[in-house]
Amino acid sequence: MKAWQITRLGAPADALRWTELDEPVAGTGQLVVRVRAAAANFPDVLMCRGEYQIRPELPFTPGVELCGEVIAADPRAGGEFEIGDRVIGVTSMPHGAFAELAVVNAREVFPAPAVLEDPQAAAFHIGYQTGWFGLHHRARLQRGETLLVHAAAGGVGSAAVQLGKAAGARVIAVVGGADKAEIARAQGADIVVDRTVEDFVGVVRAVTAGHGADVIYDPVGGETYTRSTKCIAFDGRIVVVGFAAGVVQAPALNHALVKNYSILGLHWGLYRQHRYRAVREAHDALVELADKGLVSPVIDSTIPLADLPGALTRLGAGDTVGRVIVRP
Ligand SMILES: NC(=O)c1ccc[n+]([C@@H]2O[C@H](COP(=O)([O-])OP(=O)(O)OC[C@H]3O[C@@H](n4cnc5c(N)ncnc54)[C@H](OP(=O)(O)O)[C@@H]3O)[C@@H](O)[C@H]2O)c1
Repeated sequence: MKAWQITRLGAPADALRWTELDEPVAGTGQLVVRVRAAAANFPDVLMCRGEYQIRPELPFTPGVELCGEVIAADPRAGGEFEIGDRVIGVTSMPHGAFAELAVVNAREVFPAPAVLEDPQAAAFHIGYQTGWFGLHHRARLQRGETLLVHAAAGGVGSAAVQLGKAAGARVIAVVGGADKAEIARAQGADIVVDRTVEDFVGVVRAVTAGHGADVIYDPVGGETYTRSTKCIAFDGRIVVVGFAAGVVQAPALNHALVKNYSILGLHWGLYRQHRYRAVREAHDALVELADKGLVSPVIDSTIPLADLPGALTRLGAGDTVGRVIVRP
């Protein structure tokens, strides 16, 4: 089968090799799936560079998220899925999604929502699950509260905007550029701040009459995090989602004390290990929202598998909106 492989770490354009590989086999509790669509995630870029918290042994095929069709199942996979089923979820390294065939753990995939076509279904797992756990389990977002989302036109951010609106919050979206501002508006954001021309701190203070944002969802980190502490509300919650800016902030805890806000770490992958039932329930709740048309993944573009390196380069540079979808 055709697949991308990483044999040495580096920028995506240098690290990825277009290869012919033997078809993978299902290990204990695993399924082999034919990839119908794979969604490019920021962690795919970080994995190419060797900068992600998970560092698979070389060589490996990257691609953390997909929509696929089951073509083989280990007998110990629990029997929930049959050959031909359409599933979404995360892959099991070294057999990632940027290939014709991939391997998944049966416990880490779920039935693909019937209402979503393959490209959107492929993008409906990581960003939405992360948003669900960040906003509901960690931040306990309440109807009527103000939610600020950074990188709000990105994969994780656009999902958080939609989920925030679905939960009845007033959503302020922060984005880097006019095109991204349009995307955030189209997702239902009440107020959109283009960070390239406006300071979000001043806008948040102005539109909340000095109260600040009750919840801040931050996939960017670094200076963006630090500025967020200037407009977090009393009793507010900042969800630390990621460090797309490339800088891991070292927050001043005396500031959290004197302003009375919480800093909440979020590692969604750990819920898969420790709270399987909650992940399953979140999937069901998310499918219900998709069925009602309240959430729907933003797609930047759908490209052939062979064009992957350019797409990951754009993603790493912050030049994509929603998800780039790759199809074998
Ligand atoms: N905690 C978890 O469990 C979890 C789960 C999934 C993903 N994540 C993390 O969430 C973050 C977002 O992931 P994603 O796949 O959805 O990516 P993404 O948001 O689609 O892309 C990253 C966005 O970050 C913003 N950004 C700001 N400074 C940047 C810089 N120096 N370089 C690149 N981008 C920059 C850009 O948006 P603007 O220009 O609009 O600011 C860019 O579009 C990543 O850090 C990822 O690792 C965490």
